[in-house]
Amino acid sequence: MSKLAILGGEKVATSSIAANIKWPIVNRAMEEGVLSVLRDGNMSGTNITKEFEKEFAKWQGSKYALAHSSGTASLQAAMFGVGLGHGDEIICPSITYWASVLPAMSLGATIVYADIDPVTLCLDPADFEKRITPRTKAVVVVHYCAYPAPMDEIMAIARKHNIKVIEDVSHAQGALYKGKMVGTIGDVGAMSLMSGKSFAIGEGGILVTDNQEIYERAMLWGHYERGGDITLPGLAEYKGLPCGGYKYRMHQLSSVVGLEQLKKYDSECAVIDKAMKYFWDGLKDLPLDSHQPVDANSTKGGWYACKGIYNADAFEGLSLKYFIDAVTAEGGQYFAAGCNAALHTHGLFHTMDVYGDGKPSNIANNPDAGAINKEGDLPVSENICNSAFSIPWFKHFDRALIDEQIAAVRKVCENYKDLLASDPKEKVVGKFFQTARKN
Ligand SMILES: Cc1ncc(COP(=O)(O)O)c(C=O)c1O
Repeated sequence: MSKLAILGGEKVATSSIAANIKWPIVNRAMEEGVLSVLRDGNMSGTNITKEFEKEFAKWQGSKYALAHSSGTASLQAAMFGVGLGHGDEIICPSITYWASVLPAMSLGATIVYADIDPVTLCLDPADFEKRITPRTKAVVVVHYCAYPAPMDEIMAIARKHNIKVIEDVSHAQGALYKGKMVGTIGDVGAMSLMSGKSFAIGEGGILVTDNQEIYERAMLWGHYERGGDITLPGLAEYKGLPCGGYKYRMHQLSSVVGLEQLKKYDSECAVIDKAMKYFWDGLKDLPLDSHQPVDANSTKGGWYACKGIYNADAFEGLSLKYFIDAVTAEGGQYFAAGCNAALHTHGLFHTMDVYGDGKPSNIANNPDAGAINKEGDLPVSENICNSAFSIPWFKHFDRALIDEQIAAVRKVCENYKDLLASDPKEKVVGKFFQTARKN
């Protein structure tokens, strides 16, 4: 085997993968749909959005769907939907994008973070249970990087303690957990559909549920124009104004794209699944974890933000950062060390008085809250950035192209000993968010 490229040797991967990873795949029907909405001056209506909701609910297997202007908005509506309010606690895994739970703070709730499991990168059920108090009203379960979270265990704990379950499906549209669509297992699902996601329609989000009360409360929160659909006593008398004070309607340029995306999403995901499994199959003899569910009836849907998991012990302590640098030098593309930063380490949850409460807003309405989530409290979340890494997200099955990326990883794995002496041992620092990428 030739010398590693990072040490001056020839690289093994020379073809650009940019065209392969480009997303979303825009077809003529999407373009024509957008143009017709524009030409009709119908951007702010709700007729196309309601059609999208109907089709999305059918595809998801949910009774109701309610489209939103963003995933963040849909998550806040879900929180109001399940009755979260002042003095309540909501539990969320620390490794996720902030919008999974941050909207809870403006509802007056206290955010409590739980640790993740180092294999699934999703909520660790045992740690979730440990953090439950009499004030815990809800949990947000994130199917992180398209991996279906262990819903059987989480639902059993939640039901035992009478806790509402909100599934954040932003990373996992179309993924199955033991044969069931994620988003339909908890009390309510909510998700981003912004253009970086698997189900990409532009800025937008959607809430799905079988529960009429959650659906109607969500409508009442930010959809003032839906009064006619709010029928439940205790809610119907407040229709006409958005009770949250927010306007969360989806733009119809997004919903028309969504309608078209629904028609081809499953077939596009099947191609992604084939390509991604081919990539990992090419590396299966190496000591890297592919972050794929082991259950035969669980899937990763669109493989959003796909990850691998690195174990430095299998490489005599070689740092993840240097390993990834070496793969990149071999012509590996879109590999990156790390993942989201652990949210509980941010001062917002501990010291900032956002609303003039005279104390940290995260605990302002909660007389029982002590020092929640101290540093060192969530060891997996605090260290996962030095084992999780991003891999290329293939959208097309191009065997030769994927083979080159496999070869880049393989060459580094097979020659890692050559790197041990020059390893700068740099630690990876997670980021709270990634800048939106334009492919
Ligand atoms: C896990 C997760 N939840 C929620 C959101 C928020 O969605 P949006 O950006 O559409 O508001 C995102 C991403 O953007 C996300 O990754």
